[in-house]
Amino acid sequence: MIKFNLDYATLKEVRLFLYKATGLYWEERGFDYLKIKIEIRMRATKKFSPREYLSLLRSDKEEMQRLIDELTINETYFMREIDSVDVYLDKVLKVDRIKNEKIKIVSVGCSSGEEPYSIVILVNEKYPYLKNKLEIKALDIDSQMIKKAKRGVYSFYSLRAMEEQLVKRYFSEENKEYILDSRVKTIVRFYNLSVFDPEVKALIKDSDLILSRNVLIYFGMESKKRAIELFYDSLVDNGYLILGKSESIFNVNDKFVMVHYPNVILYKKEVNNGS
Ligand SMILES: C[S@@+](CC[C@H](N)C(=O)[O-])C[C@H]1O[C@@H](n2cnc3c(N)ncnc32)[C@H](O)[C@@H]1O
Repeated sequence: MIKFNLDYATLKEVRLFLYKATGLYWEERGFDYLKIKIEIRMRATKKFSPREYLSLLRSDKEEMQRLIDELTINETYFMREIDSVDVYLDKVLKVDRIKNEKIKIVSVGCSSGEEPYSIVILVNEKYPYLKNKLEIKALDIDSQMIKKAKRGVYSFYSLRAMEEQLVKRYFSEENKEYILDSRVKTIVRFYNLSVFDPEVKALIKDSDLILSRNVLIYFGMESKKRAIELFYDSLVDNGYLILGKSESIFNVNDKFVMVHYPNVILYKKEVNNGS
């Protein structure tokens, strides 16, 4: 196996480059992981010195995307922490909103699509009167995950937390692959974007609900603040943000109001407009 001379200074340079380009920030405790992933790309591109690889990275957008795809951690599964969305749909959505308007939902860091598709399935099952109101956009920085999401074909591992009857209702099985029903697929629009890409602002403007679950964990404090500020500005008045259950925005943003339900916390953009 070839040994690369990837020293601390080079890792810091790659970190800065990635940070400026994508907002992703590697803490030093994650440098071993970063090193392994850069080495995989150095081998694949046959760039055997860190200088050569860095200059490729700077000049070739496709290589940057490949390194990002290599670095991201995409763990997800159907119905993961679905109770948070259930609480939002059950307790928060006002009846008059349901009558008149679209419900705009955004899944940030959607990975291979399980999160936004689970919302469609939940609505179909428990809130059928919302079916025609749903507008779901989902984005991820990882191009391979977005491809997989659009394809909508999964292994049983992705369905492990789903009730059997739901699997039967929404998937057809072929050679141990589970193909998602196209009626679910058509509701979600996917975008291969980083949350920090300039076009995201317009894309997620006036959202009713933003999900950003198990994504902020990859960001440094400055990026976390930028992302949460963007979410706040993009929500409608009295809109909601849902984070992963192990995440918090304590010390990151004090504009959101925490709303507590049993086992679920929602973050509200509370605006007193007399309604
Ligand atoms: C651990 S997965 C979480 C998937 C899903 N939200 C869940 O909770 O099951 C994190 C996802 O965030 C994506 N991600 C990381 N940084 C991102 C960024 N700057 N913009 C968009 N997506 C990002 C990764 O590619 C990965 O697919």
